[in-house]
Amino acid sequence: MERIMKAAATAVAVLLAVAVLVAEAAHHPRGVTSSYRRKLEASEDMPLDADVFAVPPGRNAPQQVHITLGDQAGTAMTVSWVTVEAEGNSTVLYGRAMGRLDHAAEGTTTRYTFYNYTSGFIHHCTLAGLDHATRYYYAVGFGDTVRTFWFTTPPRPGPDASLRLGLIGDLGQTADSNSTLAHYEQHPGDAVLFVGDLSYADKHPFHDSNRWDTWGRFSERSVAYQPWIWTAGNHEVEYAPELGETTAFKPFTHRYPTPYRASGSSEPYWYSVKLGPAHIIVLSSYSAFGKYTPQFKWLEAELQRVDRAVTPWLFISTHVPWYNSNNFHFMEGEPMRVQFEKMAVDARVDAVFAGHVHAYERSHRYSNIKYNITDGRCTPVADRRAPVYVVIGDGGNIEGLADELTWPQPAYSAFREYSFGHAVLDIKNRTHAYYAWYRNHDGNKVTADATWLTNRYHMPNHDDSSVHSNI
Ligand SMILES: *[C@@H]1O[C@H](CO)[C@@H](O)[C@H](O)[C@H]1NC(C)=O
Ligand SMILES: *[C@@H]1O[C@H](CO)[C@@H](O)[C@H](O)[C@H]1NC(C)=O
Ligand SMILES: *[C@@H]1O[C@H](CO)[C@@H](O)[C@H](O)[C@H]1NC(C)=O
Ligand SMILES: *[C@@H]1O[C@H](CO)[C@@H](O)[C@H](O)[C@H]1NC(C)=O
Ligand SMILES: *[C@@H]1O[C@H](CO)[C@@H](O)[C@H](O)[C@H]1NC(C)=O
Ligand SMILES: [Fe+2]
Repeated sequence: MERIMKAAATAVAVLLAVAVLVAEAAHHPRGVTSSYRRKLEASEDMPLDADVFAVPPGRNAPQQVHITLGDQAGTAMTVSWVTVEAEGNSTVLYGRAMGRLDHAAEGTTTRYTFYNYTSGFIHHCTLAGLDHATRYYYAVGFGDTVRTFWFTTPPRPGPDASLRLGLIGDLGQTADSNSTLAHYEQHPGDAVLFVGDLSYADKHPFHDSNRWDTWGRFSERSVAYQPWIWTAGNHEVEYAPELGETTAFKPFTHRYPTPYRASGSSEPYWYSVKLGPAHIIVLSSYSAFGKYTPQFKWLEAELQRVDRAVTPWLFISTHVPWYNSNNFHFMEGEPMRVQFEKMAVDARVDAVFAGHVHAYERSHRYSNIKYNITDGRCTPVADRRAPVYVVIGDGGNIEGLADELTWPQPAYSAFREYSFGHAVLDIKNRTHAYYAWYRNHDGNKVTADATWLTNRYHMPNHDDSSVHSNI
C-alpha cells in the first residue's frame, strides 16, 4: 500500500514537472539552432603584404589611427596613432570644417618593449570640450606627413536620442575579419562596442607585436572615424613569464586607452560611458571581481549612479559570456555570473554583450539567481526582469569557429549558430531597439537573426522574447 502511494506520489510529481515544463515551453517558444552550416576552413591571418596592412605613404606618416571616447558623457575624444621613423609631433589640430582646424590639443607619447620587439612611438591626445552630435575634423602628424580624419561626437545623454551601436568581437585579422569589418561598414553605426580580443598578436611566435601594428592599420578604416569602446579579452592579457613579460595587458594598455577615470574606475579595464540614450558598463573578465575587489565595489556604486530617466538603456559588455551553450569555453563565465547576475537583474540591465566564444548566440530573458546552496534551485528560469544575453565572439579570427554545441539546446537559448559576423543594435527611442545579427555568407552580408528589444526601465513587464524573428 505504502509502495503504491509512493508510486502514485511519484507519478503526480512527474506529471506536475511535465506540466510545468509544457507551460514554460508554451510561454517561451523553443530555441533555434540554425541549420546553416558554414564550411569549416583553416583560419589564417592575412599575409603581411595584404592591402589592408599597407603603411600609409609619406615620411614618418601617422599610422594605426584610432579614436575612443575621452570622457564619460561624449564631450571628449581620445585620438591615438603610431609613428615609426621618429617620435614626431603629438599635437592634434581639429575643428568643425576640414579647412578650419582652429583648435589644438597636446598629446603624449609612449613606447613599450615586448620580449625583443620595440614599439613605434604611440601617441595619445584627448580633445576635450567638444559639443555633442557634432562632426569634427582632425589632423595628426605635424612636421612630417599630415593625415586628416573626422568623427561625429555621440548625442547628448538623454532618453529620446537614437543611437546605432555596432557589436563586434574577437575580430583578429583574417580574411573573415576583413569581411566582418566590410559588412559593418556597409551600414555603420555611431560607435562600436567591441567585446574583446582585438589582434590575436599573441598567437604568433613570441607574441609578435608587429601583429598589433598590422591590426591597427587594418582597423583604422573604421576606428579612425568613429569611437570603438574597448573591452579587454584574454588575448589582451599577454602574461608571458616564459618571455620575461609579466605585466598583464602590456601591449593593449599602451595602445588602447579607455576613459576609465571619468567614471571613477581605478583601472582601464572596467569603466562606463554614456552615448545618447545608453549607459554602457564595461567589465573585465580578467581582473578580480570577487566581493570587496575594486571592480566589484566600482560596479556596485556605478549601478547606483545610473539614471534611467536620462539613459533608459543599460548595457553590460564583458568578454566571457555568462550564458553560453557552446562547448567552447563552456562554464568559464560562471564565476562572474554568480558574482554579478543578481546585480544585473535587480538593475534591470537591458542586455549583456560578450564574446570569447567564436560563434553567435542570443538568449531569452532568463535568470539563474535563486540558488543559495541549500535550496537546490539552480535551473535558469524565464524572467522578464533579466537581460538578454548576446554572444558575439564571431568576428573571424585566427582560431576559427567554435563548432561544438551542447545538446539539448538549453531553454534560455533563443538562437545560436556558429558562423562569423557582427551585430547592430539600433536604439530607436526610449522603449524600442531593433537588434540584428549579420552572418558573413560567402562574402555576402545576410541578416540571420533579428528581434525587437523593449526597454526594461520603461516597459519592465513587456514580453519581448522571440525566436529568430523579423527577418
Ligand atoms: C579587405 O576588404 C576590403 C573591403 O572590402 C578590400 O578592399 C580589400 O581588398 C580586402 N583585403 C583582403 C586582403 O582581403
Ligand atoms: C626576436 O627573436 C626571435 C627568436 O629568436 C627572432 O626570430 C626574431 O628575428 C627576433 N626579432 C627581433 C626584432 O630581434
Ligand atoms: C606640433 O605641430 C603643431 C602644428 O603645426 C605646432 O603648433 C606645435 O608647435 C608642434 N609641436 C612641436 C613640439 O613641435
Ligand atoms: C535558501 O532558500 C530557501 C528557499 O527559498 C530558503 O527557505 C532558505 O532560508 C534560504 N537559505 C538561506 C541561508 O538563505
Ligand atoms: C518607439 O519606436 C517604436 C519602433 O519604431 C515605435 O513603434 C514606437 O511608436 C516609438 N515610440 C514613440 C513614443 O515614439
Ligand atoms: Fe577570448
